[in-house]
Amino acid sequence: MIGRLITLEGLEGVGKSTNMEFIQRKLQEAGIDVDVTREPGGTPLAEKIRALVLDTADEPLPDLCELLLIFAARSAHLENRIRPALDHGRWVLCDRFTDATFAYQGGGRGLPLEIIARLEGLVQSGLKPDLTILLDTPVEIGLERIRERGGTDRFESQRLEFFQRAREVYLSRAQQEPERCVVVDANRPLTQVQDDLAKIIEVYLSNF
Ligand code: TMP
Repeated sequence: MIGRLITLEGLEGVGKSTNMEFIQRKLQEAGIDVDVTREPGGTPLAEKIRALVLDTADEPLPDLCELLLIFAARSAHLENRIRPALDHGRWVLCDRFTDATFAYQGGGRGLPLEIIARLEGLVQSGLKPDLTILLDTPVEIGLERIRERGGTDRFESQRLEFFQRAREVYLSRAQQEPERCVVVDANRPLTQVQDDLAKIIEVYLSNF
């Protein structure tokens, strides 16, 4: 029995948390033992790095430093939690993964995508998600939801253009890797979004 890594991606305010729970439930109903986690974070050490990356501090966090911290957290998460789970045949459902780094640090911050790809190769040694679901909405809609719930971390406070660039990278990666990525239009009533998610999971599971 081989474990699988499923990732859920999307900009702020697309409904990731609610849909993480929905996907978890669908997998569990299918009898799958699933470990639910998130990035940056997922282990005590990686959660400490998450706080460094998200908290607004007195000292500016240079873009490259942010990128390296995110991959440092990913390295701990992979070696101490994700790989051991997969090796034991468990499935891992992760709220964001390296597509978010391409989108936010590459698209949003403007760091070269080749640098991110090199770090991905170094840290992940070929490990990639088996399935990635991208929840997509126009940027304005997601940001409006963030404003309503009062989010102010280092990313939530970015300007519209940052998220527009991030969205473009997300969508272009999904287009380039259609065997791994499925895009779901999240700008619809939740029941419709979840009907799609249920179908995606059903089709994915029918291949085993
Ligand atoms: P979230 O847990 O609310 O999704 O917040 C995590 C934030 O971190 C979110 O704004 C996106 C950002 N992030 C990156 O910038 N790069 C990454 O690689 C990941 C995983 C998250």
